[in-house]
Amino acid sequence: MNNPPLSDAFVFFGATGDLAYKKVFPALQALIRRGRLSVPIIGVAKAGMTVEGLQKRARASIEEHGGGIDEAAFSKLVKLLRYVDGDYNERATFEELRRQLGGAERPIHYLAIPPDMFPVVIEHLAASGNLKDARVIIEKPFGRDLASAKRLNDTLHAKLDESQIFRIDHYLGKEAVQNLLVFRFANTFLEPIWHRNYVESVQITMAEAFGVEGRGRFYEQAGAIRDVVQNHLLQVVGFLAMEPPATTYNEAMRDELVKVFRQVRPLAPKELVRGQFRGYRHEPEVAADSKVETYAALRLHIDSWRWDGVPFFIRAGKRLPLTATEVIVRLKRPPLTKLASGQGNYLRLRLTPEVEIALGARVKKPGEAMLGEPVELSLIHHPEGEMSAYERLLGDAMGGDATLFARQDAVEAAWSVVEPVLSANDVLEYEPGSWGPEEANRLTSQVGGWGKLGPA
Ligand code: BG6
Repeated sequence: MNNPPLSDAFVFFGATGDLAYKKVFPALQALIRRGRLSVPIIGVAKAGMTVEGLQKRARASIEEHGGGIDEAAFSKLVKLLRYVDGDYNERATFEELRRQLGGAERPIHYLAIPPDMFPVVIEHLAASGNLKDARVIIEKPFGRDLASAKRLNDTLHAKLDESQIFRIDHYLGKEAVQNLLVFRFANTFLEPIWHRNYVESVQITMAEAFGVEGRGRFYEQAGAIRDVVQNHLLQVVGFLAMEPPATTYNEAMRDELVKVFRQVRPLAPKELVRGQFRGYRHEPEVAADSKVETYAALRLHIDSWRWDGVPFFIRAGKRLPLTATEVIVRLKRPPLTKLASGQGNYLRLRLTPEVEIALGARVKKPGEAMLGEPVELSLIHHPEGEMSAYERLLGDAMGGDATLFARQDAVEAAWSVVEPVLSANDVLEYEPGSWGPEEANRLTSQVGGWGKLGPA
């Protein structure tokens, strides 16, 4: 099979925005440093800026968020960087872009802009001859419910083939999320137990100690379910629950992911607890009577041969006691209850901020009595990958590899899971710094409650 051709220019809309500042410039320097990027880079924005201004912003961004300037890579970045200043509603902006692209024939356009601008930008890109043989990267949210996700896909498909579209869910680019697949499918000891006969429950916790950090306006439109459950955390469920992807064709992994999403039963209101931290309503640009959830806990059922009867729990919240995303897979207890009672018998997989896999076991407590005690065996524990999710994903997209990007059918299937509860249930207040509303404990009471994060 031939490799798809590399993109021959990198265009990013929203070049002076927040995402470019926090994620894109650092990823570009890293790609250049690794020798993966040597084509023209064209920033587009309506900011009354010059290319010199954008270079300064790139430097500040990389100093603040990219681990510092690498002089050799940065000077290459400066040489490659161009800038188009203009309104996205005007054809002239796109004609100027065409000129700046020079001889490039297969540009990649990264739309790091609000989704309501996608239709007009796509339309102009097409009309100015900038979409032929091009690729387009878009950022979440991919709609705000199933109907709007379908409309967005229709807008994109009016001008683009699905193979040209790269929807970023940065969780798919995380080292630790990739490791879920390697760990599951490269270890013989795991496969025989990775199903309903041995797994009692699976819990995924995404805890964030910080609040909405000036993103009140965005968050009021989103809430925890739309912001992180429908996408990042369902992807994690997909990686934990999928069948082994075939290695004979390149859509195999995405096919397995979408199969999982289709087997997840659409959520019923009784399987969900929504919370809001006390003080959220005083955040800038948040309604004084906001009902938006900053916390969600839910129980999923996967109606598949492998997972029937095994609950998958998710909880995600802002202003919780710490910042970490962790999976706990609890195994069923063996029958000798005296030795097996208490903690142990689990796998703990930390996805952020570090990469960690640990196995919780029980061993004999030293001494005369025949008693067990829990120990944890750490299989790996290292800082978040040396390659950022954005570096990995932008590099993949330029090489035409969509494996780690959300496919249309998966996005829609994931919306179908959360659709019934998007506006259901009251929102319960919780104290900042707590683990969310008490009511969330009801969901996990039959499996011994929510697990503690970090080593037992
Ligand atoms: C983003 C959400 O997609 O992911 C944020 O909009 C969230 O609300 C963030 O904080 C978490 O990403 P990470 O990589 O820091 O775990």
